[in-house]
Order: sequence, then structure tokens, then C-alpha cells
Amino acid sequence: MFGCSVGYGGGLEAAPFLFKRRNRVQVQTVILAAGKGTRMVSRYPKVLHEVGGRPMLAHVLEAAQAQAPEAITIVVGYGADQVEEAFARTEARFVRQEVQKGTGHAVACAGPDFAGAEWVVVLNGDVPLLRGQTLSDWLADMEGTSTEVGILTARPPDPTGYGRVLRNTKGCVTGIREEKDAAPEELGIPEVFTGILAVRRERLAQFLTEMDADNAQGEYYITDVVEAAASEAGVHAHCLADPGEVQGVNDRTQLAAAEAIYQRRQAKALMDGGVTLRAPERTTLLGSIQPGPDTVIEPDCHLEGEVALGEAVHIGPGCFLRDCRLESEAVIEAHSHIDGAQVGPGARVGPFARLRTGTRLAAKAQVGNFVETKNAHLAEGVKANHLSYVGDAEVGPEANLGAGTITCNYDGHAKHSTQIGAGAFIGSAVQLVAPVRIGEKATIGSGSTITKDAPDGALTLARSKQITKHDWRRPEDRKGEEG
Ligand code: UD1
Ligand code: CA
Repeated sequence: MFGCSVGYGGGLEAAPFLFKRRNRVQVQTVILAAGKGTRMVSRYPKVLHEVGGRPMLAHVLEAAQAQAPEAITIVVGYGADQVEEAFARTEARFVRQEVQKGTGHAVACAGPDFAGAEWVVVLNGDVPLLRGQTLSDWLADMEGTSTEVGILTARPPDPTGYGRVLRNTKGCVTGIREEKDAAPEELGIPEVFTGILAVRRERLAQFLTEMDADNAQGEYYITDVVEAAASEAGVHAHCLADPGEVQGVNDRTQLAAAEAIYQRRQAKALMDGGVTLRAPERTTLLGSIQPGPDTVIEPDCHLEGEVALGEAVHIGPGCFLRDCRLESEAVIEAHSHIDGAQVGPGARVGPFARLRTGTRLAAKAQVGNFVETKNAHLAEGVKANHLSYVGDAEVGPEANLGAGTITCNYDGHAKHSTQIGAGAFIGSAVQLVAPVRIGEKATIGSGSTITKDAPDGALTLARSKQITKHDWRRPEDRKGEEG
């Protein structure tokens, strides 16, 4: 049925019933990740290089897991200890390929028998942008056919470096030619192999015993299985409509290309969720970002980790946001840094504010320029608008912290907390030496160093009295008066 396939793009829109059927297909997945990645010029194994803030291997694993395979085997070799340590919590099995003799040899290391699997799916650890859904749809497409080998192909704008897909005059795939082995006319073939293939278990077992390393690199190529199967039940080739999904990463230029594709994908997801990105190409989006309709993100912002955006939030230019929640209509002015914090509805932050871990701003709270907060809860309507440090603090509703208010929370040994009551007014340049409590509607005079609790409703001052010496004169004015 799939003796050959000449269709390009499309055709992978799996109906739900195909999904159900696929679940019965026994798949084992092998991820090839043993190569050094010489062209990266790096001390780290290639698959640990990051795309979207996560190792490439993490993306490939996620795509593999979407099939719920019977088993996932990761073939590691160069920097195996580092890779295994980075993925210590995965349920996937690691096998070591001590000497890298090629992709075919790597698959053999993962086997040899793949017991219980109908299909063995081979993924490359350096092809990080493949979607799990694409894999699922592709496998569903091959199900119920007699095809022995399925390959995913693409037509990237520049095929340089990839294996080329050979087809006969009828359009049937006859093999894959590595660039280093290709004749000049073969280099002109625009269709490339993506590194992703599925082989029936028995076919694979047979191939692995027969394969040789008779090629320019003296390596065992898994791609040779295509030629081996082409003469028999045939090869099912599916050419992906979006070549960006299978961008391989062999050097830093391709790493940047993969990152750019990933960023465009993230930006599109946010925009599809109703967020305006003033300059998508100047916004860095890492991790998982929950969009909020009518939120606007100005250029040069960096979002990473788990970021939840409410509706109509405005994020000014040059902001850094990590692991935070910004509720509806919050306004983050330019160059603010928010990490591990929650910003309530209608709250205002910045410009140049730094909200650190454990900061919670309630509705309409305001934290202005050069204010740093950490482990601080600012209740509704609190204002701390200029040059302050608020750490380990509980600040009641509508309290006002004047310019230069400092909570002295650390005694060099332990952290202590500061309680500021509702409606309190702290004058400028006040140090609150924790542990200390400022009462409700208390007023603290400017320049005070408060070391004891200040009562509700009263004015508390803790500064030396101002004196004036009327008979004092400057030394230069005193010249000639002495002796
Ligand atoms: C491979 C394909 C090529 C395809 C391209 C897609 C082969 C022979 N070639 O080429 O047709 O167009 O991917 O990106 O398969 N690896 C091992 N052990 C080894 C050798 C490699 O685990 O002994 C791993 C690498 O870590 C990498 C993957 O296999 O993750 C592919 O190896 P690489 O050397 O990058 O192959 P390409 O030249 O990119
Ligand atoms: Ca590669």
C-alpha cells in the first residue's frame, strides 16, 4: 500500500479514531544522543545545548513521550555522565555507545531485539523542534499498511549538510545519500532526510545484522535501512510541510536558527492567545507562558519559566520576568525585573523595580523606581515608590513607604520580619530594624532608625535632635583671629 509515497506536506491530519488505534501499536523509541557534536566546539555534549532554555534532548524526549511508547532508550556516549546526570529523573533507559561508529551502530546498541515492539522509532537528539503531534500523526498514517520503513523528509531552503532522499523515476524512495557520499548531481536534490524514521522490528533486527560501514565516513549508517527496504515492501516517505520543525543542529549557527524557529513558535502561541507583541522578533520567550487577552508586551522583554499573564497587562520595554503571575491590568514599567513574584490586579511596578522571590503585591499596590522587594507582602493600595528595600515584610493596606525606606531584615545571622500596619506613613530615609512592628496609621518621622515597635496612630521619631551653633565660624573665616 505504501510501496512508495510521493505526497508532499499535508495528509497528516489524524482523525481522533486514528489516535485510538495508534495506542494499540507497540512502539519503542530510540533517541540518538551519543555524538560529540564536534562542530559545536564545546566542552558540553551537543544534546545539552539549549533551545528555548531547555536542553535539546528535553524537547526530543517530550516529543517521544507524546506517543506513550513501550520504552524510550537514549543512546549516550560523549559526555554520557553529564547527559545522564542532567536527565536523572527521566524514566527513559540509557545505554552507552562507547565508541561512536555511526547512527546504525547507535541503534544496534539500543537493541538488539526491541522485544514487544511492532515499530522502532528513531529520533535524533539534535533535531529538537519536532512536535509530538507530528510524530503521532505520522505513525497513525503508516498503521495498517505493509510498509517496512517510514521516513520523515523535508525540503528546507538550504539542504546543505543533510542526507538527500533518492527517488526513482516513479517517485518511489530508493535510498538516502549522505552529503559526504553524494555525487555532484545528487547534491542538487532538494528533499532531505530529517533523521527521523520508523522501522518494523523484524526488519530492523535483520538490517542491524547485515549493515556495513562501506562509505566515506567509515560509519554504520541507520539511513542504509531505507535502501535495504526499498526493494521489498517499500518505504513510506512523508515530506513535512514545515521544514523548520526538523531543523538539525550541528553547529552554533544551526543552534541559533533552531532558537529563532522556537521563538517564532512561542510568539505565535502568545499572539494566538490575544497578546500583542510589539516586536515579536525582539522578545525572548522561554518556558511556559500563559497568555492573557489584550496584554501588551513592548520590545526587548525576556520571559522565562512559568509566567502567567492576566488580561490587559502592560509590560514596558526591557523587562525581565521569570516564574511570576501578573494579574489583570497590572502595569510593569520599563526595565523592571520580576522573579518569583505575584503582581495583583491594577498594580504598578517600575520603572527599574526589582521584585524578588516571595513578593506579593495586592491589587493596586505600587512599587516604583529603584525599589527592591523580597519575601514581602504589600497589601492593597500600598505605595513604595522610590529607592527602597522591603524584605521579609508584611505591609498593611494603603500604607505609604517614603523614599529610601529600608527594612533592615538581616542581622548577619538570621532574617527577621517587619510588620507595617494599615494606613501607616513612613517618612523618607527610614530604617526599620527588624524584628519590628509599626502600628496602624502610625507615622514615622523622616530619617528615623526604628528599633522598637511604634504604636498605632502616633508619630514616632528616632533621630538625633537638630542643633544650630550660632557662634561657629568656618576655619577660613577664623584666620587672623588666633594669636
Ligand atoms: C543525520 C543523518 C542524515 C540526516 C541528518 C538530519 C545518518 C547517517 N545521517 O546526519 O541523513 O539528514 O541526521 O539531521 O544518520 N549519533 C550517535 N552515535 C553515533 C553517531 C551519531 O548517537 O555513532 C547521534 C548524534 O549524537 C546525533 C544523531 O545521532 O544526535 C545524528 O548524528 P549526526 O552525526 O549529527 O548526523 P548528521 O550528519 O546530522
Ligand atoms: Ca545532526
